[in-house]
Amino acid sequence: MPPIDAYSHQCGVMDSFAEMVAAGVKPVALTHPQPSQAARDRYLPYAEGLADRYGVRYYCENGGLVTDLFPASLNRGTYNLVFYRDRAAIDAYLSIHRHKAVLQQAGRYAGRPRFSLAYQLGRLLGYSGSDIRRMVAQNGDREPVDPMPDRPLPVPCAGRPVEIGDISRKKDRFLSPLAALLEQTFPQAYKNCGEEEADALLSPGRVALGALAGGELVGFVGAMPQYGQTGWELHPLLVAPAWQRRGIGTRLVAALQQWVAARGCCCLYLGCDDEFGGTSLAGADLYRDTWSQIENIRLTGDHPYPFYQKQGFSIVGVFPDANGPGRPDIWMAKRIISE
Ligand SMILES: CC(C)(COP(=O)(O)OP(=O)(O)OC[C@H]1O[C@@H](n2cnc3c(N)ncnc32)[C@H](O)[C@@H]1OP(=O)(O)O)[C@@H](O)C(=O)NCCC(=O)NCCS
Repeated sequence: MPPIDAYSHQCGVMDSFAEMVAAGVKPVALTHPQPSQAARDRYLPYAEGLADRYGVRYYCENGGLVTDLFPASLNRGTYNLVFYRDRAAIDAYLSIHRHKAVLQQAGRYAGRPRFSLAYQLGRLLGYSGSDIRRMVAQNGDREPVDPMPDRPLPVPCAGRPVEIGDISRKKDRFLSPLAALLEQTFPQAYKNCGEEEADALLSPGRVALGALAGGELVGFVGAMPQYGQTGWELHPLLVAPAWQRRGIGTRLVAALQQWVAARGCCCLYLGCDDEFGGTSLAGADLYRDTWSQIENIRLTGDHPYPFYQKQGFSIVGVFPDANGPGRPDIWMAKRIISE
């Protein structure tokens, strides 16, 4: 067999990846990590040609994305190209970076949220849920639990009691903080449009309750009536990452319930998407055995349905594939009894 030089070999790999991305087999594909920017940039002319030939695009990644999906040493400090076809795919890929940074900053890059990032990356690369779980389980080269152990973790609640209050009539003061909270907590949904969404959430006719710590907005819950005054949709609920798991979400939901009960609500409901394999319902055909799959739901990553169950909500249905194939919206509801 004639010798194959490394550069040509890599070009061949890129060619097949670009074709797979064009065909929708992989939402994104990563080229082989290179040790320097110059080494990666040698492939740009070839990548340019592939982009034209297959109708795909590529993103130049500097520094590498490390999750538990692959050995940390494979991608740490490397340079590569990320092929993608749809804008949403590269946005989702970049949001893994941001979400990881937020978790690390909050000292929460561990457990389910950490697994969830590896899971999201695996799904973007086209792997099945079971393959991802196996790869993560077999990966013996992981970053330390706290990759910045010298940095003191935030103790946000110290000395700052959290108060829940109506912020609906204070758009001037809370528009920007709410936009920032949305972008920080849901980067995949609100990146670059946090202000637009905050403006709608603080509009008349809606409930808008904020969790305030020394005047800083650290949580928010909103709702609006959708069936006269009897059926209200909770949207959205969010707590800043550094303040999560301290009972703030529970207090926001309790306050919201009182608020809507006083306005004639009988049913408070919400949809919680499973876009990133947080539950066993992701990747499943939910048109078949719908109720037995709902009854047997379990966490496979990070998802808030257990939080809502703890607040008395039940799963009352699903919209299969609402966010794309295998990415359902899970509907939950709670009976509200007016005083
Ligand atoms: C979901 C969220 C609002 C919960 O708020 P929180 O202040 O962290 O929750 P609490 O501290 O009041 O938690 C109450 C209980 O729910 C559990 N819980 C909270 N989030 C959970 C999650 N993602 N998965 C499983 N359990 C969760 C807590 O462990 C706690 O259990 P315990 O009472 O047995 O100790 C918050 O984590 C958040 O903003 N997440 C990101 C945005 C999001 O997912 N919003 C919901 C979209 S539908």
